[in-house]
Amino acid sequence: MAHEIDLMEKIQSLAKRRGFIYQGSEIYGGLAGTWDYGPLGVALKNTIKDSWRKKFISSRTDMYEVDAAILMNPKVWEAAGHVATFTDPLVECTKCQRRFRADQLAVAGKCDACGEPTGEPRNFNMMFSTKVGAMEDSASTVYLRPETAQGMFVNFKNIIDSFHPKLPFGMAQIGKAFRNEITPRDFVFRVREFEQMEIEYFVKPEDWNQYFEYFKDEMFEWMESVGLDMAKIHELEVAPEDLAHYSKRTVDFEFDYPFGRKELYGLAYRTSFDLDNHANGSGTELSFQDEESKSKITPHIIEPSFGVERTVLALLMSAYTEEQKGDDTRVFLKFKPSIAPVVCAVSPLLKNKPELIEKAQQVFGMLKAEFGRVMWDDNGNIGKRYRRQDEIGTPWCIVIDFDTLGEGEAGAKDTVTVRDRDTGAQERIAISDLVSTLRSRLS
Ligand code: GAP
Repeated sequence: MAHEIDLMEKIQSLAKRRGFIYQGSEIYGGLAGTWDYGPLGVALKNTIKDSWRKKFISSRTDMYEVDAAILMNPKVWEAAGHVATFTDPLVECTKCQRRFRADQLAVAGKCDACGEPTGEPRNFNMMFSTKVGAMEDSASTVYLRPETAQGMFVNFKNIIDSFHPKLPFGMAQIGKAFRNEITPRDFVFRVREFEQMEIEYFVKPEDWNQYFEYFKDEMFEWMESVGLDMAKIHELEVAPEDLAHYSKRTVDFEFDYPFGRKELYGLAYRTSFDLDNHANGSGTELSFQDEESKSKITPHIIEPSFGVERTVLALLMSAYTEEQKGDDTRVFLKFKPSIAPVVCAVSPLLKNKPELIEKAQQVFGMLKAEFGRVMWDDNGNIGKRYRRQDEIGTPWCIVIDFDTLGEGEAGAKDTVTVRDRDTGAQERIAISDLVSTLRSRLS
C-alpha cells in the first residue's frame, strides 16, 4: 500500500515537474477539483483523442460527430432526469461541519476528518448552475452540462434530417463536462471539470444486446491499442440498485489505480429513455422511419462513455517504469509511440559546433514537418538529455554526431544515432530513411 501511495506521489510530481499537469489556479492556492494541462499533458490528451476519433469515428461510416454547446436549455436537464436525480448522498459532520460523500467515508457514519458522527445523508445535485443574460432571476438559471450525451440526443433529429442515416448509426462527441463533486480527489481521477468522449449508438430495440456486446469488445480493443495495462482492467456488471436513472444495464471498466480499483469507463444501455423524454419534453417527434418495417420506431441506445482525464491517469500508471542499475534508478514512461506526447527528440552531439547544429536543425525540420510532436533538445550532456526524454516517454532520441558529418567512421555520413527509450539500444539510420522507419514503428 505504501508502495502504491508512493507511486501516486511520484507520478504526480513527475507530471508537474515535466509539464504534463499543474494544479489549477496554483499561484492562488489552487481550486479543488481543477487541473491545468501543460504542453505535454495537452499533447497526451490530443493523442488519446486522435486515437479515439480514428477508431470510433473516422474509420467508420456510421458515426456522426457533433460539438454541441456546453450551456443548454434547462428543460433538457429536467427532461433527462438530471434536475431530479443527478445527485450524490451528502453528509455533514455534526462537530466540524465538514462535508463528505456518504458512500466514500472511510468508516460509515463517521467523519473522515475528526471521527465524530455524521448527520443523515441528503441528496446533493451535482450540476453546476449559472445565469444567462443580465437578468438574475430564476428563469435565467442554466446548468453546465454534466455529460456530453444530452448534446447528442437533442441533435438526433438534426442528424436524421441532414444525413438520412439508416439504423444502426451513432453520434459521437468529445467535450467538457462539469460536476460539482462533493469530494474531488486522487489527482485527476475525480475532478469538477473534465472531458468526455462519448458515443450514443442508435439501434433497433431488439438488437440492443448484440450491440452492447459489440461495443464492449470495441472498447477493450481501443484500451489495448493505446497501451493501457490490460492486466489492471476489470469488467464490473453494475448491480441493478446501483444503475444510473437512465440505464437498464451498465458495465463499468475498472482500473487498478494506486488508490484502489475504480471506474475508468462505462458502457450503458439507455433504452429509449432519453429520446422518449425529450420527445415529451420538447413536443418534437424523435422517432425513426424504419425502411424495412415501414413503421416508426424509437431507437434504443448503447452508450460507450470514456473520460479523457482517467485515460491520462491510467496511461501514466501503465507506462511508469523504474529500472535499477546499481545505485542508479532510471525512470521512463513506456508510452506506445502512437500515444507518446513526443515522438522523438533531435539533438546535436555538441552545442558549440555550428556544422552539427546546422545538420541537426535540418533533421529536426524534416521530422517536425512530418510528425509534429518532435522536440529539439540541446540542453546538458547527451546522458542527461536521454534521461529527460525517458521521463516524458519519448520513444526515440536522434543524435547528430561527427559520423553524420562524414568526419567519423567511414560510410556513416548522413546517418544518425537513434536511441531506443526502452532498451537503451542505439542504431544508425540513414537520414533519408528516418521518416519511413519511424512511421513504420509508430503504428
Ligand atoms: N453519459 C454517461 C456518463 O456520463 P458516467 O459514468 O457518469 O456516465 C462517464 O461518466 C465517464 O466520465 C466515467 O467513466 C469517467 O471516465 C468520466 N468521469 C465521470 N465523472 C468524472 C469526474 N468527476 N472526474 C473525471 N472523470 C469523470
